[in-house]
Amino acid sequence: MTQTHETRGLRPLAPGVGAEITGVDLSDFSQDDAGFIVDAYHTHAALLFRDQELSHDGLIAFSSLFGEVDVAPENQRMKAVPGKPQIYVVSNIKGENGKPIGSLGSGEAIWHADMSDRENPPEATLLYAVELPPVGGDTWVAGMASALEGMPAELRRRIEGRSIKHDGTYNSGGFVRKGVEASDDPLTCTGTLHPAICAHPVTGQQVLYLGRRRNAYVDGLSLAESESLLDALWAHATQDAYCYAHRWRKGDLLLWDNRSTLHRRDAFDPEHRRMMLRTQTKGRLAPRAA
Ligand code: SIN
Repeated sequence: MTQTHETRGLRPLAPGVGAEITGVDLSDFSQDDAGFIVDAYHTHAALLFRDQELSHDGLIAFSSLFGEVDVAPENQRMKAVPGKPQIYVVSNIKGENGKPIGSLGSGEAIWHADMSDRENPPEATLLYAVELPPVGGDTWVAGMASALEGMPAELRRRIEGRSIKHDGTYNSGGFVRKGVEASDDPLTCTGTLHPAICAHPVTGQQVLYLGRRRNAYVDGLSLAESESLLDALWAHATQDAYCYAHRWRKGDLLLWDNRSTLHRRDAFDPEHRRMMLRTQTKGRLAPRAA
């Protein structure tokens, strides 16, 4: 544990990504804590805080350390907390009308970076655990700077200077986004091209930027070449060596930088309730080639 303050500590979560910060109350932190947290975010790409008690306004206030807090976009099938459009509910719980109060259900959410089909994708995502199933629903984060660093030279050579199409058709739960035509053709589906290797806008660090596998396409290749290259990239980037798997406890807050990580969620028993509050900060820039 690195003591940087009388009671504050930082402990790496996995070799390739993430750190836990201890000794900070996110509902009442100092300017010094804020600087420490933002520095750690840039260094470790994902941060965990345990045993937090955050009000809705407290979650929004803490989230704003990482940028302007966004409101739930219409086409993402996201549902916001009533009166708090910046807080999206991720939950399988059904309301009195029998309809889900949040998004993503209880199934697996596949590896992705949030909303990378946008020209300027969102930056930080924060997830706060309110109610959890006894097992399942673990959230995984993979570090894309360490994945790029550990990439075999031959694989890296195949993506240098190339761009990848990030699909805008499906969300990570496999649901078609609102107002979008279903498509499983990577060549014609809606999406946005981003460089495969980006320079992180704050740290300058080189990162692999994959977005999501479904409907992805490496621009300029035949579909068959693109599929085989993407399979190799995804197999490499999601190896355990680059991942942290988080087993949730109530009161945990986990956050990640979508510019330098991927994340996914394990499925859980639909008979059990899971409720998370989620915020994200607005994308200010288009991903830039390294
Ligand atoms: C997400 O992919 O944003 C959801 C992660 C989770 O529910 O743990």
